[in-house]
Amino acid sequence: MKIIMLGAPGAGKGTQAKQIAEKYHIPHISTGDIFRANIKNGTELGKEAKKYMDQGMLVPDELTTNLLVDRIKDADCENGYVLDGFPRTIPQAECLDRALEGLGEKIDFAVNVEVPDENIIRRMSGRRACLSCGATYHIQYNPPKAENVCDACGSQLVLRDDDKAETVKKRLDVYHAQTQPLIDYYTEKGVLAQVDGTQEIDKVFSDIVAILGE
Ligand code: AP5
Ligand code: MG
Ligand code: ZN
Repeated sequence: MKIIMLGAPGAGKGTQAKQIAEKYHIPHISTGDIFRANIKNGTELGKEAKKYMDQGMLVPDELTTNLLVDRIKDADCENGYVLDGFPRTIPQAECLDRALEGLGEKIDFAVNVEVPDENIIRRMSGRRACLSCGATYHIQYNPPKAENVCDACGSQLVLRDDDKAETVKKRLDVYHAQTQPLIDYYTEKGVLAQVDGTQEIDKVFSDIVAILGE
């Protein structure tokens, strides 16, 4: 099963993608997590990506697309994957489609997690992220068992550099201008599914499972 998660920054794409990956035994592939891991490890890719991410802008399509298209050819992607944060522009979506065509494959579902902008800023300030395994927490809505420690891998949790209110506003603008058009793109392909992302995390997940099937 090949799934794309769509939605504004902070809509809960990562939170849901993690659970989808576990339930359906497919890898969770987040371009944002890949960039953050590269920044943490001080790679050239990380240095380049950081310039854009810290300003709330998108990393250029060439960098992102090459990385993703390589990743989905890995052996663990044989039975599908859940893409979180990719594609984010129409050119990225077109590149992905071309790559999939070449492999004789297609996207099964594009799940749009809908959350209005007003809710987003409040969520971001309480978010804590694990840069080692990509797990995401919220100090109020989804707290870790031990304060500031990742349940999954035991690493220290951090506030992401791009979660300052000013940067979040910029990311929302970029989302509306560049990523929202993908909703029409995948509607036309007949694979779009909408879920109400303002509900509790578990309810959002059960709505998604109802769409994807047990
Ligand atoms: P990325 O890491 O993808 O960030 P994003 O899209 O801005 O989304 P977030 O990760 O901030 O939010 P999310 O939807 O995953 O929400 P989460 O589950 O954490 O990208 C970061 C940057 O990398 C981009 O700005 C760009 O520069 C670059 N980049 C990445 N991909 C790129 C690409 N393809 N092309 C170009 N550049 C790219 O949830 C948010 C918070 O809310 C958490 O605290 C969570 O616990 C909480 N929460 C979740 N669900 C609920 C709920 N139902 N109720 C209450 N709280 C909830
Ligand atoms: Mg995320
Ligand atoms: Zn972790």
